[in-house]
Amino acid sequence: MTEPDVDRVAARLRQQLADQLAAAGRLHSPGWRAAVEAVPRHELVPRFYAETDAPGLTTWVPITPELVGLDEWLRLAYADETLITQFGGREIDWADPQPVSNAHPTSSSTLPSLVVRMLEDLRVEDDHTVTEYGTGTGYSTALTCHHLGDVRVTSVETDPHVGARARTNLARCGYRPRLLIGDGLNGAPGCPPADRTIATMGVRSIPAAWVRQTRPGGLIVATLRGWMRSLGLVRLTVEDGHTAHGRFLSRDPSFMIARQQDAPESLGMLPAPDEGTNRDTRYGPEVLTAPDSGFVAQLALPHARYFSMPTDDGTVNTYVLDAGNGAFAVLTPDGEGWTVRQGGPVLLWDAVEQALAPWHAAGSPDPTEFGLTVTPDAQHVWLGAPDGPSWRLPA
Ligand SMILES: C[S@@+](CC[C@H](N)C(=O)[O-])C[C@H]1O[C@@H](n2cnc3c(N)ncnc32)[C@H](O)[C@@H]1O
Repeated sequence: MTEPDVDRVAARLRQQLADQLAAAGRLHSPGWRAAVEAVPRHELVPRFYAETDAPGLTTWVPITPELVGLDEWLRLAYADETLITQFGGREIDWADPQPVSNAHPTSSSTLPSLVVRMLEDLRVEDDHTVTEYGTGTGYSTALTCHHLGDVRVTSVETDPHVGARARTNLARCGYRPRLLIGDGLNGAPGCPPADRTIATMGVRSIPAAWVRQTRPGGLIVATLRGWMRSLGLVRLTVEDGHTAHGRFLSRDPSFMIARQQDAPESLGMLPAPDEGTNRDTRYGPEVLTAPDSGFVAQLALPHARYFSMPTDDGTVNTYVLDAGNGAFAVLTPDGEGWTVRQGGPVLLWDAVEQALAPWHAAGSPDPTEFGLTVTPDAQHVWLGAPDGPSWRLPA
């Protein structure tokens, strides 16, 4: 393929991607459609890792034109897939790229259907300014520049190597937004409040700086994450620079968590076999893994994580541990039900049961029935209405 061929094929693939996103109900506005059809994702993400569907450990393989050929490279660059560009905060050795397993992706070009959906959810108007947190490859930054113009777009990236690469690639494609390097949890230093704020990394709660740096009446679209799972996508209206409120738009989207908020490496100490007190419980570990009850359990256990481990007799126990305060709950199958052994300063499984009770009473709704209120003192996720049952997010 010659260079003009690459351009022609890429343009056709962009149009196909736009058709696909529109057919899936993710892309509605002419402005965002024009951006998807124009922004050359293959130039912003010229080499990346793609997840394989082989069974077993999650494995990613390197993708460059040299490794897979121009056709396949372009096809993958315009697939509705996340393209990974960094693992474990370390730069990839592109001189000798190898398959990677069991790794922790730390930068990527997010799934286009998710990025576009979030941009649509942002409800931008032509004269709006947007601040984005998590520049990554710059793909979503470029879409926003194409729609609103470079001068209306600011993007913040914490990793200097990632930020520098995005700056170079964006400039090569003709986009020159304001790009800042720094911890976006502290906002965008020196920038006036924007009409819209969007985050393409997950956060445990909404940073106060994002509320301060969004104009009153403006919107914030972000994904909330816990250490056990993603909570989902929220859209908040800012009231006065200190308070904001809104609802969850969906549970599904999951972003890599802000680097500064990643869970501690250690899951915590396993309790001794005679530690804690036993009781029966009707809930087993499935409430942690099922989509909607898992959302509620994450709210009830903001600092905990869990894993399952077989004992010598083959029984599989599930350990729920809070590494911060040493609290634990161990679930063991017991006939039709479960036994829980709990200990430490907080009774973790009691907290899960107390959170599930009002949720069941409300008919076990999905996360779109939940909302979030942000005040200078605390952030609460509520069920139904702001005065309904609520759970505090970690500060
Ligand atoms: C999923 S990627 C962003 C995808 C990007 N918007 C795109 O379209 O390519 C998330 C990015 O957030 C960055 N990030 C993580 N924590 C951050 C923080 N505290 N402030 C700013 N960026 C952060 C990561 O380094 C990573 O590049």
